[in-house]
Amino acid sequence: MAANNDPVKTMKQEVGKAAADRVKSDSVVGLGSGSTAAYAIEYIGNRLSKGELKNIVGVPTSFQSEVLAKKFGIPLTTLDAIDGIDIAIDGADEVDPQKNLIKGGGAAHTREKVVDSLANEFIVVVDSGKLVDKLGSSFLLPVEVIPMAVAPVMNSLSKLGGKPELRMGVKKAGPVVTDQGNLVIDVKFDNLDNPAELEKTINNLPGVLENGLFVGVADIVLVGEIKDGKPEIREL
Ligand code: A5P
Repeated sequence: MAANNDPVKTMKQEVGKAAADRVKSDSVVGLGSGSTAAYAIEYIGNRLSKGELKNIVGVPTSFQSEVLAKKFGIPLTTLDAIDGIDIAIDGADEVDPQKNLIKGGGAAHTREKVVDSLANEFIVVVDSGKLVDKLGSSFLLPVEVIPMAVAPVMNSLSKLGGKPELRMGVKKAGPVVTDQGNLVIDVKFDNLDNPAELEKTINNLPGVLENGLFVGVADIVLVGEIKDGKPEIREL
């Protein structure tokens, strides 16, 4: 792999490659979203083109992963055409010691949760900067909401002790619009003590499609880190 001077990029590349190496021929693969999963998609495509892997179909978790899969030659399918997903590879914004996650930094967490939860083996790929002792320490919790329900959902999230803000676009006027045509509210919770309960409580608010807490979904967490100047991969 070409050396680069960006340690975070190196960690993401290496961990994406390590996860791609775990994909076996004749399997259905959930393709995650974000910059780390993008490397895994690229390496799966490389392995396919070299003939190292055969008979793979991917299930994309976003428009981004669909475009990348096409670019790197991975055939795609949809959930109505398959019986199950063998392996899914996806990034995360935070990972706690119990392998619970916050996802949705790329506003793709709804489709990610569908695909990642269906996989027999869900591998999370992160750089070491994503590891936290407690979820919510460094990242806001994303909540996907249908547009007409934004105001009441923001009120309800405040009553739950959160500080909600509507996610705004970058290089786009107005809010971020998800692949499903909805909006994203990012919420700061000072005390995210019970992620399992909060995940269910938020998803019960009328108008909420899905939130970015992934509790008990990850099977394996691969962490890319730099040790003595060299990239290493370890399993959490
Ligand atoms: C997409 O909505 C997210 O869940 C990503 O998987 C997450 O933000 C990780 O992205 P990076 O790999 O780009 O950090």
